[in-house]
Amino acid sequence: ADIIGNADNAGHTTIPLPRDLFQPERVNSRGIEFGERAALNRLVADVATKQTLTLTVKHSAPEDVDRIVSLARDGFPSWSRTPAAMRAAALERAADLLEQRSAHFIALLQREGGKTLDDSVSEVREAADFCRYYAAQGRKLFDNAQPMPGPTGERNTLRLRGRGVFAAISPWNFPLAIFTGQITAALMAGNTVAAKPAEQTPQIAAEAVRLLHEAGIPETALHLIQGDGPIGAALVAHRDIAGVVFTGSTVVARSINRSLAAKDGPIVPLIAETGGINAMIADATALPEQVADDVVTSAFRSAGQRCSALRLLFVQDDVADRMIEMIAGAARELRIGDPSDPATHVGPVIDREAKQQLDAHIARMTREGRVRFAGQAPASGNFVAPHIFELADARQLSEEVFGPILHVVRYRASGLDAVLQAIDDSGYGLTLGIHSRIDDTIEVIVDRLQVGNVYVNRNMIGAVVGVQPFGGHGLSGTGPKAGGPNYLTRFATEQTVTVNT
Ligand code: SER
Repeated sequence: ADIIGNADNAGHTTIPLPRDLFQPERVNSRGIEFGERAALNRLVADVATKQTLTLTVKHSAPEDVDRIVSLARDGFPSWSRTPAAMRAAALERAADLLEQRSAHFIALLQREGGKTLDDSVSEVREAADFCRYYAAQGRKLFDNAQPMPGPTGERNTLRLRGRGVFAAISPWNFPLAIFTGQITAALMAGNTVAAKPAEQTPQIAAEAVRLLHEAGIPETALHLIQGDGPIGAALVAHRDIAGVVFTGSTVVARSINRSLAAKDGPIVPLIAETGGINAMIADATALPEQVADDVVTSAFRSAGQRCSALRLLFVQDDVADRMIEMIAGAARELRIGDPSDPATHVGPVIDREAKQQLDAHIARMTREGRVRFAGQAPASGNFVAPHIFELADARQLSEEVFGPILHVVRYRASGLDAVLQAIDDSGYGLTLGIHSRIDDTIEVIVDRLQVGNVYVNRNMIGAVVGVQPFGGHGLSGTGPKAGGPNYLTRFATEQTVTVNT
């Protein structure tokens, strides 16, 4: 079997995720509140003690890829003809099951993904939201052909259909939410799926696939391929892949693009969401307390391992020292350590390799910049303490650094244009934060920059499904927006039928 992972002995304990606010058009934006935080944590801890964490997972061999894609291709005719309402109902059952088993998935996210309690709870919420949101969108888009205008004596309709087998390649930083989001979008649009999760988080993926099957997605429609980069590359290169949805690094997105371009046969679309050197601009009118809070959340929550996270803060020089001190003060309050401790704010980074790369970046920035804050992390384990470096020039940061490291650059009020140019020149365009109380400034910045998600006077992470459709431009991805009304259409083909009546 390609799927290994057995946590059945965990028992499935339900915790109350707030779903009462859910309506198809207005997905829950409340997030999770921890009125009963201690009780929740006891429940999750109890589940964790009974949970089997499988430490070895069998990777597929390259020859398995061919077999699995063939099975997915064989499953396409029947799944693509399944009425959209039935496909949607299976996704809604999956959302129910995720909620019923939330304690189990929260414990698994903490243990396999190193995620804090808050992050794990939000992630289960997001996975369930994706299922329900795409189900609601799919019912509207896929069941009825859209009548088009035409001359008398002619009937014109436009309808959406699945493309075929979609390869879904997902990252370790949202091993449940992004994994489930990609798969459910592709399935809802009538495709069958071969899903390759990140090799760091195989058990979460295996259990999510099992849950989706249990919810009513046929085994012929959804297939799991466990493995590392070369397995993903073999999947993308397979002749029967009709589309690829990928979330991960820009470098890998480029190599997928090259591989698709080199194939004979149909032209295969890529939906890619990658990273960014995400910036925030705080001018002299911003509220310092709010900036401090929002910067710490944006740069350090999830140990900075979000593609939306803040990497580069531009602060107007009149207020820079005061703001940097306040940010450092707020960062000093963060607790770094065991993600299963509910008091922890910053857990470990994903693995040793990530830690080594981040430590090397910290060493370089310590030489090239000015250290404004250096946190303390436990000595053993893959922990990286939050750091803040002040740089003379934004160009000193030329690549995305995927961890809890913030870079700060000062600017003069007259130099806003150069700041915008520097952000533009990076080529990325995922998230942007603005802290200002001048409407004109906000308008100029928003208008000037091609950035996918702009957050004004708040933090810049945690896009909510159906509320803040998420995704970027340029080096940050191809669009469209996950959790947005146009996403499913990109997984589909369009067919116009003209009938002479
Ligand atoms: N969608 C996530 C967020 O908004 C990032 O990957 O934080």
